[in-house]
Amino acid sequence: MQIDGNTILISGGSSGLGNACAVRLLQNGAKVILIDIAPPPETMLAATGENCIYIRADVTSELDVKQAIENGVERFGPLSAAVICAGVLHSERAMGRDGPASLDAFRRVIEINLTGTFNVLRLCADAISKKTVPMPSSERGVIVMTSSIAAFDGQIGQSAYSASKGAVAAMTLPLARDLGRLGIRVVSIAPGVFETPMMEVAPEKVRQSLLDETAFPKRFGTPDEFASTVQHVIENAMFNGCTLRLDAGLRMPAK
Ligand SMILES: NC(=O)c1ccc[n+]([C@@H]2O[C@H](COP(=O)([O-])OP(=O)(O)OC[C@H]3O[C@@H](n4cnc5c(N)ncnc54)[C@H](O)[C@@H]3O)[C@@H](O)[C@H]2O)c1
Repeated sequence: MQIDGNTILISGGSSGLGNACAVRLLQNGAKVILIDIAPPPETMLAATGENCIYIRADVTSELDVKQAIENGVERFGPLSAAVICAGVLHSERAMGRDGPASLDAFRRVIEINLTGTFNVLRLCADAISKKTVPMPSSERGVIVMTSSIAAFDGQIGQSAYSASKGAVAAMTLPLARDLGRLGIRVVSIAPGVFETPMMEVAPEKVRQSLLDETAFPKRFGTPDEFASTVQHVIENAMFNGCTLRLDAGLRMPAK
């Protein structure tokens, strides 16, 4: 799918990986509907001008996301793609020193990372399916979801996070099969460790042990390296129904 001139929604677009996608897709001529519970840096909106709109929306809310899509489409025209990045990290052992893990915390992670992802996907798929004129290739659009390598090698304390990201990876193929008849592709990216506000809070010991298990290059990814993968997935129609590891060969140890 061509990026230039098309409308793309990005959830979690105010920070980290989602924000890097917004910047890169705008540079490539997209019109961006940025949804997040927190606003993006003011400098970013000032620099992007008229091709980017921020709409406050919680990905777990049907009403918020529906209204954001409606407002964005009214401003920029039919939706062609979505990049779903909104997510939260959580670490807690199933049995801690003070007893069993919090059920509320587990539910919250599933609610934002999994249910929120599905909510954005289904409403964006509905909007993309309304495009009356598909591209010459019969493609209407593409939806990129964000999983994690924790879907496959979750560490101690990551049961909730891994469950949410594993489910994103697992639903990628059935979603691609559901939406294929509408000319919509669905792809997930499973990042290793990327330098974003989410990872900055990790203690130095944890960061070093992750670097030790990285094959090459022995560094964390930059948000733009994630964004460039998203760009390629959007542009290359052969990506569909799969989850791509983007991790410099990192296989996470137990802790
Ligand atoms: N950074 C990494 O190393 C890494 C690795 C693997 C997967 N991921 C995944 O990538 C995605 C982006 O992570 P990041 O590192 O950029 O984190 P980040 O914390 O920098 O950005 C996440 C954004 O999501 C938003 N958000 C959180 N809950 C929301 C909600 N309910 N509704 C709307 N927006 C909400 C936050 O406000 C924030 O702007 C997440 O899904 C994360 O799990 C990140």
